[in-house]
Amino acid sequence: MSTTSDSSRNRSKSSSTTAVLVAVIRAVHLRFHETHIFEDNYALQMLPPFWHAVASHRFLKWLVGDVILGVYRPVYPAVVLRARYTEDQLLEAMDEGVNQYVILGAGFDTFTLRHQNIADRLQVFEVDHPATQEVKRQRMLKANGSLPSNLTFVPVDFETDKLDEELSKAGFDSQTPAFISWLGVTYYLTQEAIRDSLERMASVSAPGTRLVFDFKIAKHMMSAEWRTLAEKMEGFVARRGEPMLTDFTPQSLNDLLARYGYREVEMMPPEEQQKRYLDESSDFEPAEFFHFAHFAVAPPTEESDSQGGK
Ligand SMILES: C[S@@+](CC[C@H](N)C(=O)[O-])C[C@H]1O[C@@H](n2cnc3c(N)ncnc32)[C@H](O)[C@@H]1O
Repeated sequence: MSTTSDSSRNRSKSSSTTAVLVAVIRAVHLRFHETHIFEDNYALQMLPPFWHAVASHRFLKWLVGDVILGVYRPVYPAVVLRARYTEDQLLEAMDEGVNQYVILGAGFDTFTLRHQNIADRLQVFEVDHPATQEVKRQRMLKANGSLPSNLTFVPVDFETDKLDEELSKAGFDSQTPAFISWLGVTYYLTQEAIRDSLERMASVSAPGTRLVFDFKIAKHMMSAEWRTLAEKMEGFVARRGEPMLTDFTPQSLNDLLARYGYREVEMMPPEEQQKRYLDESSDFEPAEFFHFAHFAVAPPTEESDSQGGK
């Protein structure tokens, strides 16, 4: 318990290391990969000088990204694939009239910078630790001259703060459906924080609200080879102050989300990610341990009312 709250406290003071690393992955993908699954043309500008150099120069990218940080490599395809999947689903939801986007654990996600042409159609609420948001605010100002007009920063620690109250204070409208993404975050949270966030999100989510996130599958579902890679990667992030604490099976996830009124729209295990976004010649191999999930808030039924949501 003390480990979790200590690491959470540490993260609140300094900006997230993993948020920088995943922005590096998106920048490297754009700069060095021939086929682009996801085009984040602001990722490079979100990086501090050292990582900016790594993501810009082939030799440094190889030395740092492929050799020194080799154990983190299996994460690279998932970072790009989950961003693509999420934004594809978001654009579909916007076609159905959704006009609010909540990015939970936004880190250096650059959606608002990349889509300034639709700022009048979508209010974006970015939720993260205040320290990460402050660094991001400065980098966005440098990259763009101003902050996108539709962006609101909502400072929250999922382990200790009341997400629903903070969102409402920030102007989130609980009466109209929203799109919520939660990428690269669930495995860093305790079960309690996940349950609390789901319950609080559900309490401010109108029926029709979509939730897309990635999760780590339980070790017993991984092949021996991927279990070893997962353990190395877990050691890597833990040593950087962001230990991975929680995993699910697709069934345990469905059971948990059903308690808060969410129903499954789609599950994207690695083989589906591969089928949808990668052609046979691609050398991008989705990690066996990251699955994507898409849920929607169903209208309340008499049964869920009588269970009181839990
Ligand atoms: C791996 S990064 C992912 C960032 C972004 N979603 C992306 O895909 O680029 C994880 C993010 O979750 C945030 N995070 C982790 N634990 C958190 C907590 N307890 N409260 C608020 N934010 C948290 C970190 O600050 C970080 O920005």
